[in-house]
Amino acid sequence: MRNRILNILKNADGYISGEKISNTFNISRSAVFKHIKKLREEGYEIASSTNRGYKLITSSDTVTEEKIKAGLTTNYTAQNIILFDEVDSTNNAAKREADMPNGTLFISEIQTGGKGRLGRAWSSPRGEGIWMSVLLKPNMLPQDVAQITLIAGMAVAKGIGCGAVIKWPNDVIIGTKKVCGILTEMSAEIERVNYVVCGIGINVNTPEFDSEIADKATSLYLETGTKHERSPIISNIMNEFERIYEKFRKEGIRGITDEYRTLCVTVGRDVKVIYPDHEFSGKAVGIDDSGRLIVKTADKSVAVNSGEVSVRGIYGYV
Ligand code: BTN
Repeated sequence: MRNRILNILKNADGYISGEKISNTFNISRSAVFKHIKKLREEGYEIASSTNRGYKLITSSDTVTEEKIKAGLTTNYTAQNIILFDEVDSTNNAAKREADMPNGTLFISEIQTGGKGRLGRAWSSPRGEGIWMSVLLKPNMLPQDVAQITLIAGMAVAKGIGCGAVIKWPNDVIIGTKKVCGILTEMSAEIERVNYVVCGIGINVNTPEFDSEIADKATSLYLETGTKHERSPIISNIMNEFERIYEKFRKEGIRGITDEYRTLCVTVGRDVKVIYPDHEFSGKAVGIDDSGRLIVKTADKSVAVNSGEVSVRGIYGYV
């Protein structure tokens, strides 16, 4: 009901009376008042005037459990949601709460210590993006956990649409710029994974980036010219994640590599593979059935693992 009242406010040309809302939905005036109060608590700014009724001033994009669950079709992914207003890092939060159920989703409006790959920081300003981590308890070997990162990249590319594709292994890009990064962490013993935390950061409504990264980073807003509501995007991604993850659990990595290959634009490009202590250039010719990038140099073929390496296009970021 709240969403329907919100829609009527969004479509109204100015004020709309409480009486009209109550007649439209066949609910009492006090029920209308309660829904308006709840919408305000969610962050929508709604003016009220004794004679004229209600008017939506600013639309809020507060992420709520209710909005996410309205779009979910999953059995376990994001069925348990922990929402923060502020947290150091949703990955850290998930690790602190690792005894929560498989599929628990941790989300925050802002991260004060957002973490990127290879020890970098991840800028996570309030309300501008989706900063979230999924806690998983997979029955797999530690060396196979990187495959969950591939799945997350696929789920994001599919879930956000907007022509998003993947730069190997799991940067989600639109055009030539990165819109999402994924950081997977785990707790494991030699032959057993205790849990995996798959952290996903998506620049949604970011209006601009610092000059050092402006040529490499983008947001959905910058690419489409419109602001995006984050909760439905989260639901879409979680739905895609569970679909692909379940296929992977049933059929193994071979069950998802075809779909991965259709989304990954790195193959066929000249790339530079950058390790902490050396680098080499070659042509990316394929992705093997373990998700490794096959790079051909003048004299050999190298299967590159995603762990400790960056891959750059020879002629730019992609
Ligand atoms: C990258 O460097 O590309 C990975 C960035 C991952 C950022 C996300 S935001 C949610 C989660 N929490 C973190 O601290 N990092 C990940």
